[in-house]
Amino acid sequence: MEISDRLVDWYGTHKRDLPWRNSADPYIIWISEIILQQTRVAQGMSYFLHFTKRFPDVQSLANAHEDDVLKYWQGLGYYSRARNLHAAARQIIELYDGRFPTEYKEVLSLKGVGEYTASAIVSFVWNQPYPVVDGNVFRVLSRLFALGTPIDTSKGKKEYTELAASVMNPEKAGLHNQAIMEFGALQCVPQNPDCGVCPLQDKCAGFATGTPQSFPVKQNKTKTRNRYFHYLHILYEGKTWLNRRSGNDIWKGLYELPLIETEMPADFTRLQQTTAFRRLFGDAGKLSISIELSGIKHVLSHQILYASFYKIEIGNKAPALDSYLEIPDNNIGNYAVPRLVQLYLAEMLR
Ligand code: ADE
Repeated sequence: MEISDRLVDWYGTHKRDLPWRNSADPYIIWISEIILQQTRVAQGMSYFLHFTKRFPDVQSLANAHEDDVLKYWQGLGYYSRARNLHAAARQIIELYDGRFPTEYKEVLSLKGVGEYTASAIVSFVWNQPYPVVDGNVFRVLSRLFALGTPIDTSKGKKEYTELAASVMNPEKAGLHNQAIMEFGALQCVPQNPDCGVCPLQDKCAGFATGTPQSFPVKQNKTKTRNRYFHYLHILYEGKTWLNRRSGNDIWKGLYELPLIETEMPADFTRLQQTTAFRRLFGDAGKLSISIELSGIKHVLSHQILYASFYKIEIGNKAPALDSYLEIPDNNIGNYAVPRLVQLYLAEMLR
């Protein structure tokens, strides 16, 4: 347990004072861990504070409207995390009478809770001996043992999970898990780790290779896909129109301006020739169009969006708009929108 002891010692003197660390409430730990997935602490902090103030417990979250939950998530990305939190709060009410479950298997069965989050909750709150394996832990372990198995494979996941369990001191599971994650976040950092001050240097096979930064190894098979988005800010007598995204795609449940997506890049002349554009504006009378933003590149985890924004004043209220939500244009700020759309709205207000 020497590795674990050293990590826990290091943690005692170096840990950051973060609000969720002062809590033994599984709800609070759950919310913080979901926010911190794919979000840095510096960015996640204010979301955590606002979210837990508005939704301080399972009951308040379960009772909320999904739109309200998404509004508190706006800008964080990966919106399915917020929808799952909401659905899981309702699961807890229905299946566990509103009391947060304490068994690993039960926690794991909540919507949006994977092995990492379930382990974090039961170990941090009840010291149950489940190892956490997140990006930080992958990095620390891969360097410590100079492991060449790619982390983004099922073989890698299995190996790392077993290794994480073997270095954990089961009597101090919660402390150990927090320590190894914090160690990855602050000491064993992705770029230019300062191995000179590392308490594990003499045990680190990655350090011994001379290139600790070459760990962890990734296979990187996921391809990114390019998409071309044309957003239409349509105006008529102080009204505008929004779409609530649905289906199995990014940003489900968020609102956005009416969107035309094209297979290939398209300038406005091209856009006007599309069936979608004609269907929307065929009966809209005279159009007064301005290009507000174009060529905006918005990078998501597996997609690159290229977006343009057009402001279009219409002469008649075209029937094709009936399939959108009509709202007063100055209420647009009340809706949860993706960051990309927020960027446009912020430009408009300047
Ligand atoms: N990243 C993921 N979980 C974390 C936590 N509990 N504290 C700090 N950083 C984290």
